[in-house]
Amino acid sequence: MASVLVTGGAGYIGSHGVLRLARDGHEVVVVDNLVRGHREAIAAVERATGTRVELVEGDAGDRALVEGVLRRRGVRDVMHFAALAYVGESVERPLEYYRANTSAAIGLLEACEAAGVERFVFSSTCATYGEPAAVPIAETCPQSPISPYGRSKLMVERVLADVAESRRRAGGAFAYAALRYFNVAGCDRAGVVGEAHDPETHLVPIVLQAALGLRDRVTIFGTDYATPDGTCVRDYIHVEDLIDAHVRVLGALRGVEERAYNLGIGRGHSVREIVSAAERVTGRRVPVVEGPRRAGDPPRLFADPGKIRRELGWEARIRDLDEIIASAWNWLRAHPKGYA
Ligand code: UFG
Repeated sequence: MASVLVTGGAGYIGSHGVLRLARDGHEVVVVDNLVRGHREAIAAVERATGTRVELVEGDAGDRALVEGVLRRRGVRDVMHFAALAYVGESVERPLEYYRANTSAAIGLLEACEAAGVERFVFSSTCATYGEPAAVPIAETCPQSPISPYGRSKLMVERVLADVAESRRRAGGAFAYAALRYFNVAGCDRAGVVGEAHDPETHLVPIVLQAALGLRDRVTIFGTDYATPDGTCVRDYIHVEDLIDAHVRVLGALRGVEERAYNLGIGRGHSVREIVSAAERVTGRRVPVVEGPRRAGDPPRLFADPGKIRRELGWEARIRDLDEIIASAWNWLRAHPKGYA
């Protein structure tokens, strides 16, 4: 059976992709440089599924390395998760982001073209929309990112479109999808893989770390936004639903085609709502201080996920905020030090 290549498969979202593919009976090969990923995540998938997942340690943009893997494993399908993904860090160190996200994608796509990869699913982001004039955000919203992170991802979307066009002209096959994630949260509900970032910057794990006593408090970045309770509103999608969309999309790609979908639940929750839900789920108090706004945070972002529902019949199934947070809480309690 042909294998699926998962880049960044040892990271938070990628490891959930590897787990799902292995559970579905696919042969999986992972390329991950382990800069932010964890070897142990792959071992956990192997133990839970009783399958072997090959982990090749290296950069997804290392053309020669990846081409060798693609040919050796007969890969036709690629899920490309490997990336740096902190908006704030991208402002401080833009070249690292353009190297890891944009340049690496070009090396990877060269390898894919040489080895005849036919289907490619790309982790893009709602950050490519920048500060949209209105919510909910549909795929037709102009893409005008305001951070190097968002630009590093949008450039890859453009490159993919050009590659598909060149394949169309050449009469070859190359179908891709750019999946624009909103706020990915939660962990595998069976507790096999989870979220382990260092440093952690995302709201849900930070709030839960505070509930567990791993940090003193949570700072709410801004309480004077024009939102119902003054704090920022985001669309939190469970990572298992997000991965389910990847599987659905990969199965739908045919011939030469281009797709772009927003992945969210289509509803927003404020920072204060996340804190309240975490207190409900954990039965513990989350110490909170109110701080100034964080630069570059738009007040309200949530998806119009109607396009993928209409075209592929996919929609998020885990819609209850408490269930999302409970899955992250279960993981954190079992792994307070991450995979270490
Ligand atoms: N927040 C706090 N305190 C914290 C951390 C976050 O109040 O300690 C707030 C943020 O200001 C924001 C919300 O919680 O309003 C969510 O913040 P995250 O950092 O968890 O997520 P972002 O919305 O900033 O970022 C997410 C993804 C990015 C993606 C971006 C697009 O993590 O990869 O959405 O806007 F690019």
